[in-house]
Amino acid sequence: MEIKKADFLCSNSDWKKCPKANLPEYAFIGRSNVGKSSLINALTNSKKLAKTSGKPGKTQLINHFLINENFYLADLPGYGYAKISKKIKEEFQSFTLKYLEKRENLVCLFMLIDLRVTPQKIDLEFMEYCAVKTIPFVICFTKADKLKKAEIKENTEKYKKFLLKEWETFPVNFTTSSTKKIGLDEIKLFINEQNIQFKS
Ligand code: GTP
Ligand code: MG
Repeated sequence: MEIKKADFLCSNSDWKKCPKANLPEYAFIGRSNVGKSSLINALTNSKKLAKTSGKPGKTQLINHFLINENFYLADLPGYGYAKISKKIKEEFQSFTLKYLEKRENLVCLFMLIDLRVTPQKIDLEFMEYCAVKTIPFVICFTKADKLKKAEIKENTEKYKKFLLKEWETFPVNFTTSSTKKIGLDEIKLFINEQNIQFKS
């Protein structure tokens, strides 16, 4: 699937104000700075559709993008960033979780994980939450350009082994780099397949 058109629609903190839920939607979540906004830009071949930053905590609202006038991508605030106040953190968390629970056209959540970091409790808790709430998700390993091929393989295997201690299966997963444009076609293919299913 080629992405020919990508438009920013709106930012808000209330799932009820999100765009009409008539098209399939894919949302990007993960720890602050993991590369959610950058991945949306890479997928849409744009430099600044989604706002990115070297400093964690950049995305603070639910941002909707309309792609090919056919489906939505949603950029979500990151979690696990220590340097914001507890009150703001709780607020972020509460509206993001509400969105995830209520958004009826959410086809799949892309759970972004930095492969350079050992499995984090907060990510695992989040996956657990998705399982309990039956929110479909896939894993998207980010910043693959920072690792050698052998390290990618080794760290993916480690991650898999770790998850399989608790989980019956290893979720569908993608290895990506926004800077080197790795794994983007695989994600687009996945989205295309999901879009077809959504419509049938
Ligand atoms: P929050 O909005 O704060 O939750 O962060 P985010 O997950 O949206 O991260 P963002 O896309 O803003 O990227 C954070 C930093 O990581 C930026 O400095 C990016 O340039 C960098 N980054 C993102 N993706 C990649 C990648 O694939 N490779 C490399 N080397 N750096 C990346
Ligand atoms: Mg962001």
